Amino acid sequence: MKAFYDKDFTLGIIGGGQLGRMLIQSGIDINVNMAVMDGDPNAPCRSLIDNFFVGSLLDKHSVLNFGKNCDVITFEIEHINVDALDELEKMGKKVFPSASILRTVQDKGLQKQFFLDNGIPTAPFKLYNNLDEIKSKADEINFPIVHKLRKGGYDGAGVNILKTADDLTDSFEQPSLLEDKVDFEKEIAVIVSRNEQGQIKTFPAVEMVFHPVRNLVEYLFSPANITSDISKKADDIAIKLAEKFDLVGILAVEMFVTKDGEVLVNEVAPRPHNSGHQTIEGNWTSQYAQHLRAILNLPLGDTETIIPSAMVNVLGEDGHSGDAKIVGIEDTLTKEGVYVHMYGKKVTRPFRKMGHVIILDRDQEKLHDKVKFVQNSLKVIA
Ligand SMILES: Nc1ncnc2c1ncn2[C@@H]1O[C@H](COP(=O)(O)OP(=O)(O)O)[C@@H](O)[C@H]1O
Ligand SMILES: [Mg+2]
Repeated sequence: MKAFYDKDFTLGIIGGGQLGRMLIQSGIDINVNMAVMDGDPNAPCRSLIDNFFVGSLLDKHSVLNFGKNCDVITFEIEHINVDALDELEKMGKKVFPSASILRTVQDKGLQKQFFLDNGIPTAPFKLYNNLDEIKSKADEINFPIVHKLRKGGYDGAGVNILKTADDLTDSFEQPSLLEDKVDFEKEIAVIVSRNEQGQIKTFPAVEMVFHPVRNLVEYLFSPANITSDISKKADDIAIKLAEKFDLVGILAVEMFVTKDGEVLVNEVAPRPHNSGHQTIEGNWTSQYAQHLRAILNLPLGDTETIIPSAMVNVLGEDGHSGDAKIVGIEDTLTKEGVYVHMYGKKVTRPFRKMGHVIILDRDQEKLHDKVKFVQNSLKVIA
């Protein structure tokens, strides 16, 4: 078995978006040879890497063709052809996280069933084949309830909160699930990593603050403002998931903290995650470096928080579509402890993730003030 520093070793990254881009930045640090594939010739990774291949992530042959020339294969996006990953595993390639984890996670129905089967606390749910089936059972449903597409949703796009049966009218037609609406106090996330030898480490939980209109993280802060009891529960759940999934790599675990101190898993993502960006500046090891350590079978890094941090997503300004233009970067950088990360996307759309800003401050209140400052000062317009 080749090590990552051996001649001719290649790490294949499926997906060339911002998560891949930051993974490459960490890969450069340890000088691992990498290749990337994405459907978009102008994907954020394009300008960072020579071995960039254009191909459809959903096409079995393109993924197979790309992966067969790599030694270890990972992905930074979940909407990819998982049959190709199965084949690559059969060819003896290391696919981390495994094809089977991705197959489960790609389908929110299978994912929820996995939680149930493995004693992972999660909100009660029911699966449906289509909207008519739900409508025909509308009188058995306790509204308000959460309607989720089983496949293909992201950034809240596959999630509807239904207040009454009337809201079913224009909800999702495709296979979906209805899930009890959790009256949560907070949403938190724990990123867990595990290497082939079974070493496991979790990052301290972070707390998410959602955009009031879109189901999208507006900002988050690290560490979460939770009791040590909640933090322990969240950690234990993340570790159990890593074990039950036989994870190699990282897994982001999104959780609800209920008003009576329960921790329920919302969903998981087997890849670097939006809720882990702040680890680049705020923790001893970043989620990207940790993912590489895990999949290259290296000892995992220290996950401890160095200093409290906040992460603000820089979203495309509402009402602006077209060639992206950043405004206010000079102003933003006048505040201390502010780090701008732009993803190099040429085109902006309302609420598109165009970059993020990490803010460091020992003082919680100052951290929140700086979040407001950054939100007001940095914009992406067309
Ligand atoms: N059962 C639920 N109860 C209350 N809010 C929910 C529930 N499920 C999802 N949400 C809200 O919707 C957001 C997006 O849902 P999620 O399942 O994480 O979808 P996505 O895959 O788009 O991230 C969650 O972060 C949360 O704010
Ligand atoms: Mg989510």
